[in-house]
Parts: sequence; structure tokens; C-alpha cells
Amino acid sequence: MTTAAPASLVEEILELKKERNAVILAHHYQETEIQEIADSIGDSLELARKAKELDCEVIAFCGVWFMAETAKILNPARTVVVPDQDAGCSLVDSCPVEMVRAFKRKYPDHAVVSYINTSADVKAESDIICTSRNAVAVVNSIPAGQPILFLPDINLGNYVKKMSGRQNMRIWQGACIVHATFAARKLTEARNAHPGAFVVAHPECPAEVLQQAGYIGSTSALIDYCVKSEHKQFIVMTESGVQHSLRKLAPEKEFWFVSNENCNCSECPYMKRNSLEKLRDCLDTLRPRVEMDAAMMDRARLPIERMLAVK
Ligand code: 13P
Ligand code: SF4
Repeated sequence: MTTAAPASLVEEILELKKERNAVILAHHYQETEIQEIADSIGDSLELARKAKELDCEVIAFCGVWFMAETAKILNPARTVVVPDQDAGCSLVDSCPVEMVRAFKRKYPDHAVVSYINTSADVKAESDIICTSRNAVAVVNSIPAGQPILFLPDINLGNYVKKMSGRQNMRIWQGACIVHATFAARKLTEARNAHPGAFVVAHPECPAEVLQQAGYIGSTSALIDYCVKSEHKQFIVMTESGVQHSLRKLAPEKEFWFVSNENCNCSECPYMKRNSLEKLRDCLDTLRPRVEMDAAMMDRARLPIERMLAVK
């Protein structure tokens, strides 16, 4: 259960935010009290777009490191801080840049389509970036005869391959430790327990889970769908941080979450490393700060801009 944030801590953060001319961006998987204090909450695509439009000196990015790197690449002149330096991602870890370079040497004819859940140096090796929200559109924007390497998420890759009907697509073998460990068996049990509930799922889930879903989309797309849908009860196959917006925007509806195989929850341990205390400290000290080589950022910006241009 989430307890209310201490008022003094919230005041301190708001004061520091003013002093630093900072904007607080938060992903949907952040703790409730962080989402409550944020200027904007969103999925990875919305936060990347938002980061481009901001008028501020400091971006306090409450999410995981690769998302903050994306914000920095789009805003090289701004200071970008993250509450916890170790807010990583298993997908980023699954895809070291040396392996991507080795693949490119072996298959120089392949276009590299990288999920935004990659390091900045992998983005710099990529032709175009995608997120879970636009991955099918991004792949469809590439000429049909062009072979593709899609990296690093195997489940999103397989989903995109199915939806686009694309055959000339190699898929990396990375996985999200949260979504890939949702078991179809547990979803079936939840459906039996709540027979009237409609299933929505994030495309990082395994194919056997996605097969049981009535709607598949990014975190914000899932929230929008549940809020606008005529259904009243949902089983939500993603990280449980989305509860914050779901309960706020659709208080009359019921939502159930299925726990992962490895724990009794559906929380991303990386996202949950951030806290209000660490947010206060990073606004105070401007550390941990995202800093990268300027030439590498220039190379990484191009594939991100290409993605932002895809409708
Ligand atoms: P979204 O693009 O839906 O925000 O997903 C990012 C992510 O890390 C999901 O696990
Ligand atoms: Fe990475 Fe999975 Fe956490 Fe998203 S939920 S940040 S993909 S580990």
C-alpha cells in the first residue's frame, strides 16, 4: 500500500524545482507519489516528444536511464538528471553495442531498427528507433524488400513481425524481466476468476499471453483504451504502476493485475529504484547527471528524429 508523501518533502522538491528552473517527467511505472508531483506522465514515446518541447534548464527524469539518455540526446544543452543512477533495464543489458557492431559487419545489408529500450551507443548504430507505441508503423515505413534487424526485444519483435506480415526480419533475443515472465497459465487463472474482465497487454509480453489479449498497446495506449472502452472490468498485463492513472481516470472501473513468475508482484525493480527522496537529492546536487560524448549524441539523434517523423 502506498502511504502519502510527507508534505515537507514535497515542498522541498517544489522549491528546488523552481530554483533550478526544472521540469519533472515521469513514466507510468514510477511510484504513485512521484507521478503525483510530476509535470508530465507518459509512455516512452510521449516522454521523448515532451522532452523536445520543454522550456526549462533542468529535466529531472523519473524513469529509467535509457529514457533520460533519449531526453538528453534531444536536448543536448539542458541538464538531465535521474534520481537513481542504477535505474537500468534488462533489455538494454541484453544488447551490448559490440554485439550490434559485430552483427552489422556480418549483415551489412540489414537496416537496424532499435527499440527505444537500448543504450545511447546502440541507438547511434541504428537506422531508426521505435517504441512499443509505434513499432509496427516504424517497420512498415521501411521499404518491403529491405532486410531488418529488430532489437532487442524478442516478444515485441515477434508481435511486430506478425502485425506487419514482414518476413525479412531478424529478431534479437532480449527480453523484459517483468513482461516476459508473465505466464499464460496465470492469466488463464485470472480470466477464470474474473470471467467478465477484458484483457489488455503490453507487447513485451510472451506470444501465449498476447494471444489471450483483446487489446495490445504501449502503457499510455492501454490506459487510454481502458478509460474509453465500454468494458467495466480489466485484467491488465503490464507493470502495476499504470494503476495510478487507471484509478484516477476511471475510478468506477475494476482492474486486476497478474503477478510475474518470479515475484508476487508485477513491478519493474529498475523503475522502482527512484524515490521522492532521491528526486529531491538529484534536484539539489544535479547528480546523477546524464552526460555523453557529443559526437555519439549527434549520431544517436538521427534515428530518434527519424522515428519522431513517422506518423
Ligand atoms: P512504453 O513505451 O509503453 O512506455 O514501455 C516502456 C517500457 O519500458 C515497458 O516495459
Ligand atoms: Fe525495462 Fe522491463 Fe523495466 Fe520496462 S519494465 S524498464 S522493459 S525491465
